[in-house]
This record gives sequence, C-alpha cells and structure tokens, in this order.
Amino acid sequence: MSATVIPFSLKDAPALIERLLPVQKLSAEAFKEQMAVHGKTLTALGSYWKGRKPLILNKACILGCLLPATGDGARDLEIFEKLMAMDDESFVIRWKRRPKPKEILASLSIRSIDDYFVVEPPGVLPTSAPLDWSMPEFENVKVHWRDDITKLERRRLEAQMLPKTSYRDWVDAAQRPEEVMENVHDHIWDAVNSHLGTNAQSFPALIEQLGIMRFGHRPRLADTFCGSGQIPFEAARLGCDVIASDLNPMACMLTWGTFNIVGGSNASHAKLLRDQRELADRVRAEMDRLQLETDGHGWRAKVFLYCVETRCPQTGWMVPLLPSRLVSKGYRVIAEIIPDKKRKRYVVEIRSGVSDSDLHDAESGTIGRDGKYGEAYLTHVVDGIEFRTKISTLRGDIETPDGMIENRLRQWESLDFTPLPDDLLQERLYCIQWMRPKQEGKNDEYEFRTVTDADLRREQAVQEHVGRNIKDWQSSGWLPDMRIEVGGPPRYQGQDFIRARGWTRWQHLFNPRQLLLAVLINQFSDARLKFAFTQVLNNNCRASRWNPGGGGGGLTAGIFDNQALNTLFNYGCRGSEYARSFMLQKYKHSPIDLSQRCEVMSLPANQFTGESDFFVTDPPYGDAVKYEEILDFFIAWLRRNTPPEFSKWVWDSRRALAIKGEDEGFRRDMVEAYLGMTKRMVTNGMQVIMFTHLSGSIWADMANIVWASGLHVTAAWYVVTETDNPLHAGSHVKGTVLLVCRKRLGCHKTTRDDLAWEIQEEVESQVQSLTGLNQGAKGLYRDENVFEDADIQMAGYAAALRVLTRYAVIDGRDMAAEAIRPRVKNETTFVDGLIAFAVDTANQCLVPQGIAKSHWDKLTGAERFYLKMLDMEARGAKTLDNYQNFAKAFKVHDFQVLMASHKANQARLKSASEFGRTEMSEGSELYHRCCVPCSTR
Ligand SMILES: C[S@@+](CC[C@H](N)C(=O)[O-])C[C@H]1O[C@@H](n2cnc3c(N)ncnc32)[C@H](O)[C@@H]1O
Repeated sequence: MSATVIPFSLKDAPALIERLLPVQKLSAEAFKEQMAVHGKTLTALGSYWKGRKPLILNKACILGCLLPATGDGARDLEIFEKLMAMDDESFVIRWKRRPKPKEILASLSIRSIDDYFVVEPPGVLPTSAPLDWSMPEFENVKVHWRDDITKLERRRLEAQMLPKTSYRDWVDAAQRPEEVMENVHDHIWDAVNSHLGTNAQSFPALIEQLGIMRFGHRPRLADTFCGSGQIPFEAARLGCDVIASDLNPMACMLTWGTFNIVGGSNASHAKLLRDQRELADRVRAEMDRLQLETDGHGWRAKVFLYCVETRCPQTGWMVPLLPSRLVSKGYRVIAEIIPDKKRKRYVVEIRSGVSDSDLHDAESGTIGRDGKYGEAYLTHVVDGIEFRTKISTLRGDIETPDGMIENRLRQWESLDFTPLPDDLLQERLYCIQWMRPKQEGKNDEYEFRTVTDADLRREQAVQEHVGRNIKDWQSSGWLPDMRIEVGGPPRYQGQDFIRARGWTRWQHLFNPRQLLLAVLINQFSDARLKFAFTQVLNNNCRASRWNPGGGGGGLTAGIFDNQALNTLFNYGCRGSEYARSFMLQKYKHSPIDLSQRCEVMSLPANQFTGESDFFVTDPPYGDAVKYEEILDFFIAWLRRNTPPEFSKWVWDSRRALAIKGEDEGFRRDMVEAYLGMTKRMVTNGMQVIMFTHLSGSIWADMANIVWASGLHVTAAWYVVTETDNPLHAGSHVKGTVLLVCRKRLGCHKTTRDDLAWEIQEEVESQVQSLTGLNQGAKGLYRDENVFEDADIQMAGYAAALRVLTRYAVIDGRDMAAEAIRPRVKNETTFVDGLIAFAVDTANQCLVPQGIAKSHWDKLTGAERFYLKMLDMEARGAKTLDNYQNFAKAFKVHDFQVLMASHKANQARLKSASEFGRTEMSEGSELYHRCCVPCSTR
C-alpha cells in the first residue's frame, strides 16, 4: 500500500477535484439516484420540488474540494472511490445479496481453504477450491468464515464473485451507497488514514481533520441557492458546518427539514413518530365526529371524483366535462353518461367490472382536443347530432391589447369556495371510491359507486360547515386569502387559474372537503408536521389529477407533477383516510451531529452575509423551473401562523428578485451574487458551480460570470445526470457542468496571441491526460471505460475556461467589465471566439484512429462526423449525447439525416444500405449537406 506523506497543512494544496474526477462512474451513480424518484432520501419532505441535485454528485463535489491532490493521482483516485463507495469491496455490500461461503468455494480458485474458512467436520474437504458440491461426501459439510478474518479480507474475496460486467451494470444491479451507509465504509479507514495522514473512523471525523488541515477549523460550506437542500444536507451529513440560503421560503423550509427531520437526532425522530400518529388520530377523530366521509354502513370515502359542468350554448343541456370516462383501469370501472331529456342534463352512472371494449370506449368523454395539445372543446350528442363548442368560446375569451385574456367568467370573491348557481362553470361530484377493512385479513376492500342522494346531503353538509367557519378560519390565519397576482409576466403561471376558472385567490384551488382537511391539519401541526401538510396540499386540490391507471384502483396525483400549474376538467379529492399516509410519512433518517452548525436563511444570493470556506451552488439557469411562480401555491397557506422555526424568513416569493432567464439581466444578477460570495470566501477557499443545461452557449456565459465575479476556473467537469424522460416525447440527455473556481488573485495581463498558444497547450495536455497517453497504457482511470470522446471535447471547453479566467486584462481590455457589457442580439463576442478556438483545438485531438491527419483536414464537417461516430460505434459507444456533441463540434447542422436511430441509449448511424438511393443522389438535401465539400458549395 503506498502511503504518500502529506504535509500537515493543506492550506495551499490543490484540491482533488481540481485534478481528477471519475465522471463516468459518477454519471452512472447520479443517474441511478435520479431514477429512484420516491426512493430518494429527501423526496418525502416535498415531492413537489423538481430539479433536485443528486446527493452522490454533491458528495463528490464536497469531498473533491476537501481532499488534496497529492501528486499520486492513481492513489488519490483509489481513495476517493473508496470514500464514494465506488470500489469493488464496497460493491460487495451494495450488492443485494452477499455470496455464501459454499458459493465462494464453488467458484473461486483458493489455494488454502483454511486461510478463510472453518469447515465442519474438519478434514472432509480438499485443501483448495474450487469445489464441486454435488459430490455425495460433501453433503453434510458446513462452512463458515473464520472469526479472525478482517472485514477488508472478507470483502476482497467476496468482491471476486462480482460479475465481470461494466461499472454501469454494477450500479444498475446494486443498491445506492447511501442505502447501505451504516456499514459500506467499514473497510476503508486504514487506507484512507494512511494516505491522508488522518486518524478518522467516520466521515465527520475525516471532514473535520481535513478542514483543520486546509482552513484551520471544521470546514464551512455555504449554498446560496439551496432549493430543496440537497447540497446543504449532504454537506452536513458528511460533517461540515453549513449555511444554506435561498430567496424562496419554501426552499428554506425544505432545507430546514433536511437538517431537522431527516438529519434529526434519534430522540427527535422518535418524538416525530409520536407526533405524526397523534396528528393522524386527531384528524380522524374530527372527521368521524362530523360524519362527512362515512356512509353509515362501515365504509369510508377514499376518493371523491369531481368534474366541471356547464351548459352547452348550442343545446341548452348541462354537460359534465370529462376528458375521459375511465374511472379505474384496475377495477374496470367507467362512468356512463345517460341523457335525461326532460331535465336536459346527464345522469352519471358508475359501472364496475366492464368489458375491454367498454373500457376502450370510455377513454373518450365530453372533452375533445384537436391534437394532443390542441384547444379543448365540449362535445356531446343530442338526438344523433354531435355538438362541439370550444371552451374558449364558451368562456368568451378575448385577447386584450397587452396580450392578456379576458372573458365573461365571474371573478371569485375571497369567501367563495364553490361556484355560485349562476356561474358559467359549475362543479359536480360524479363518483366516490369507498373503502372498508376486509372481513378477513389485514387489507381494505374498495368499491366505486354512483353518487346517491345521501352522498349529496353529505356534500351539502360539508359546504354548510365550511360556509359557517370560513370567515373565522381566514381571520385566524388557518386558511389563506392571498391573491393570485395579476399583471406579472405574460405567461405567469397563476394567470391560467384566473383566465380559465375565475379563481382569483390561492384558496380557490381547494374545494370544501379539501379546505376542511387542510385547515384541520394546518391547525394541528407544528414546524415538522407542516411537511405532511404541504404534501397534502400538493396532492389534494382542484388541480390534483385523477389517474385511473394508478395503484389501488386509481391515484390522485400532485399538482406539481408536470412542474407547472394547470387547471383540470376533472380531479380527485382525497378523503382524510387517503391523506393519512402523508401524515404518517416514514422519513428516511440520517442523524447529523448536534455540534455542527446548520443554518438556513431566506436571502437573495447577492445579500448573503455568512462567511464561508467553500461554496457549492446550483444557481437557476434558463428558467427550467419557475420556482418563484409556482410556490406561491404553498406560501399562501404558510405565511400566516408560521411556526417560530420558520418565522424569520420572508414569506413572499419576491419574484422581482429571482434570478431568471439567460440574457443580460441574468448575467448581471449572477455576477452580483457570485461577486458577493467571492468576497465572503476565505482566500484559499473554493467554489463549485453547477449548471444543468443543454445549450452550448452556456460556456461563454459561465466564463463571463466567473470572470466578472473575481473568480478563476481551475477545473471543469461534465456529469450526465438525466436521460430519456419517459414523461416527455423524444429522448434527451441532460448533463451537469461543474465549474471549480478559486479567487483570482493579482491582476494578470496577456494578449490574444499569447492566449491562443496557451489555450492550445492547455487543451492538448488536458486531452492527453484524459486519454491516458501520458499515464501509461491504461491511463489514470483504469476501470473506467476510459473517457468518451464527448468528455474530451468538454475538456476543451474546460481548458479554455481555465486559461481565460486566469487573466484580468486581455489586449488591454478589462475582462470583468467586458463580461457584463450589454450585447447586441446574436453578437459573437471576443470570449465566444476564444472558446470556439479551444473547441476546435480539442477537436483536432479527435481524429479517429487509422486516418491520416492530412486526409482528415480535407474532410467536410459531416464527413468527419460520420467517420468519427463510426469509429466510436465500433468501440461500443451508443449514447445520443455523443452524437449531439460531435454534430455541434463538427458544425453539422442537421445530423438527424445521418442517423438510423435517435434513441438516447441506442443511437446509431445509418448504414450504407439504409441511405436510400434518393438520399444520396445529387438533388437531395443530404447530398448537399454531407457530400459536397464546403469549398464547392
Ligand atoms: C436550480 S435551483 C437549486 C436546486 C437545488 N440545488 C436542489 O437540489 O434542490 C435554484 C434555486 O435558486 C433560487 N433563487 C432564484 N433566484 C434567487 C436569488 N436571487 N437569490 C437566492 N436564491 C435564488 C430558487 O428559489 C431555487 O431554489
């Protein structure tokens, strides 16, 4: 074992993340975590929060900043992988099942069985393995591990039993490190300590010691865009002191929850379990007292299904608006709409156990659309004639000169909770799913039923109860009265509620049953129980989609399932029993040491006041999710009677202060924020800035922001975190760029000519080090499928950023000022030019094997693209992001014509036979794009 001696002080030592990061392995791990959805550690605190940064990625960044690069890259990487549970011995624990001694003896060559195992009765087995256990004389032999075998020895042997497949396949089959964190690291500490000169048996101890060596104290991490708290939580769990802040109070609350619920002490966790049970029982007792959810025959309502109902302007009939009449796929239940000619309305009858063809027919209802996203229209048939009316026509929508929509819907008043009798859009209960304990066994049985007069009387009773109490609830702050803002940006998310329903306040998104349940939970809950409260709000409002295909006969989904706020024609309303699972939510538990500082502040990032050793941040970029718009939904409920723990935060989304967009304003705000952080960072501090985005323009933006913030990029990495989202059409791959930065010290000057040389050298040395040309035959990242070429291209960008941001002045220009200078649309800036040059240089390093450089230089972009990708396919690469990146690199505008498959993980070029004759002929687009040398076009 090599034991590199590290000086006690790491004050000026480069950090590991500035030299290496196993991005391929990390990509596999991060992707696995993202796909775990509800199995993720922090999701139960708020499943409505989108864009959580994988904890494993955060851990890599935090450790990468604290660990030193010692000069022995291979050993540094080994130790890092041990700490990340990416080593073979950790996979023994991560594997779903450990091999039994007999299985080991059947598979492995072992010279002396006695070195590892005790055999009973002794002397029956030969001295060495492998063994054939089918031999009759071995029948009653027992084998177990020797007591004196260390954990490491045992794991080493067991690791030889792991299948000889790729790292990706291992990750697929194994558990995530954090799922087995109690013991996965048991074997690593001797190796870690001897390499780092530490004396730790746990992460908090190691982190504290590394912090002292680097900063003189336990390291302090800050995240000023903390969102759901993924970065701060991982930092605290590892053992850092943490300051987290965000503009949005919901983000602050979620982050607080990571420290105090998931990270809470054992005692507080036990108390939480008691409090949860008490809350659930109080709610149940109150509902039983009111008798609004029981039928008097032992059944409780699980779900109430409601739809909008309106009068068809052409026929005068009242029509329930149902995009589909399917109620439950699993229970084969549909809603039959039966005309009642006399009253010019429809009776809705619920039929269970229907045939396949009935189920199929029920997929269409009384709402149609022209195309998947086309405008909705009401459709029904009277006397054999079909009548269609666009919903926008029905509402009388007109566009005002300022781009807003006005119509003849009545605007709801503060105390409204149901439509008034004359309103254009009414609401109707059309089905109830009932449940009761099975006569035998533990589970419940379920039934979907037609609405009865008794049900309608209970509806009436709920409305009267809410009507009697709403004023009090509102004045005492248990029920909101917050306006949905008008006059925001033209596509402000809340506008749809006003335009499509006339709802003017956030409480209008809840029907009387939902209001009653929400008020009860709100009244009975302290800070920690408010997490159940927000989950109930999310899953139980007029925008909670009913999914007939979900488990248990159907599922009521969350309003934020698609990261936007939309109105629905029909929705599911949970009975209190169905909401109970949120009140009794089993949170993951991973206690954080009480001596650590874990602080949450609600601040715009540019006003951050804490002092920090390092920052890991994931700023908003490109408006992927409009947190500042959608979270008003919760803020409305929480800004009054706020628990003391949350009361120092500003309970307003402060939309105007949110950093958004991609333009000049965005750059200016980002610079202000990062400049502030740079000032508050110790001199030898570090920053990791994460960006998840598809656009190539991101690099120039980032260079500019970093520059103007007084930072200098010391490394950049690209980790694939998401791919092929089944919810969206088409496949796409998303990666996260990690920029590692330090303070730019001094005021270095250079010229563009010198810079070109420097960039070239930096790019070439980076590419060479990644491909392992100067690291011996196998390169640094031995087990990794080396690097995919797309990473090499990223290395080009990274190298450019590293060189560029070293300088404060280039050709006499102050780069900080240049970075925030207003741009003309589509202007190619000086920085864009330099980055393009770096990418070109990286591409030069990418000539496929066996092709002479002189020949390569004569090829067109499309030809290079085709040959390069052919070369990569031959080496087994097949992810679409490679094709996307190289198309960009070789300036092939439409590479699609060259592809036989665009699947994210199964992309493929067309073969010769797949290029049709016409595609190759002179008149075809492909001929011009790909076959005519640029110079002759
Ligand atoms: C990409 S998200 C962070 C996600 C987070 N890393 C996670 O894993 O959940 C960006 C965050 O920046 C916050 N934000 C936007 N503008 C801000 C500002 N001016 N100051 C502070 N936070 C801001 C948003 O509220 C959002 O929580």
